[in-house]
Amino acid sequence: MPVHRWIWRDAERRVQKLLRFGETEIDGGRDILRAAEVTSDSLLRRLFMVHATDEHRHGVLFRRRAATLLRARPRRAMPAFQADWLAPGGHGLDDLRVEEESDDTLLAFLHVSEKAAASRFTVYRDALQHDPATRAIFDDILHDEIFHMNYTLTQLVRISPEHHRWHLWRARLSRLWKGYLRLATAVAGVIGAVLLTVQYFIILPPFAFLAKRAQRRERPGWSPISPERNGSLKDEY
Ligand SMILES: [Fe+2]
Ligand SMILES: [Fe+2]
Repeated sequence: MPVHRWIWRDAERRVQKLLRFGETEIDGGRDILRAAEVTSDSLLRRLFMVHATDEHRHGVLFRRRAATLLRARPRRAMPAFQADWLAPGGHGLDDLRVEEESDDTLLAFLHVSEKAAASRFTVYRDALQHDPATRAIFDDILHDEIFHMNYTLTQLVRISPEHHRWHLWRARLSRLWKGYLRLATAVAGVIGAVLLTVQYFIILPPFAFLAKRAQRRERPGWSPISPERNGSLKDEY
């Protein structure tokens, strides 16, 4: 919680995060609308439509709040550190490929994602005690996320009464793996930056020194070359 309070206290970072969350929610809504188009189950289609509308509304709420904050306090020239791997967007719905999923795998994926969103948004809401308006938005969105979390599980059990547990575990493992990949990429980025900095300060200076020494030995101006090396360039052709 102290980490999240620190993350959300900075106004510039809050604006950036809200804008990014808005984008994720609207993108997620678009994917779920696509899922409504491709499913052959009429009840699921109706639920997906409601779900997509909710996600679009969340995106608009986040964007509007970011715009209000931005008007109240103009942006700094230096963007704030985003700490995305500590406080990521809600769903992870950006990993979704609707066409590659069947109704049951999609519902399992959605359930796991919505559950994660609900628990993250609870933390963010609690961390935002100093900003009641943003806090109210998280609180409002949280109600929808809990509905999404519940209906996806109920429908998964209806569609796949025997295999729903297996689908849920698969979705959890896949989410865990993607989380690991994201973390590994971030760690690799840090290690790369450290190694390049070390190389710059340890390996490069001797070469710079040698180059400067060689430069001092060079005679200034044009220097003649031996007649053997001074043949016509056309000879080679
Ligand atoms: Fe949402
Ligand atoms: Fe949701």
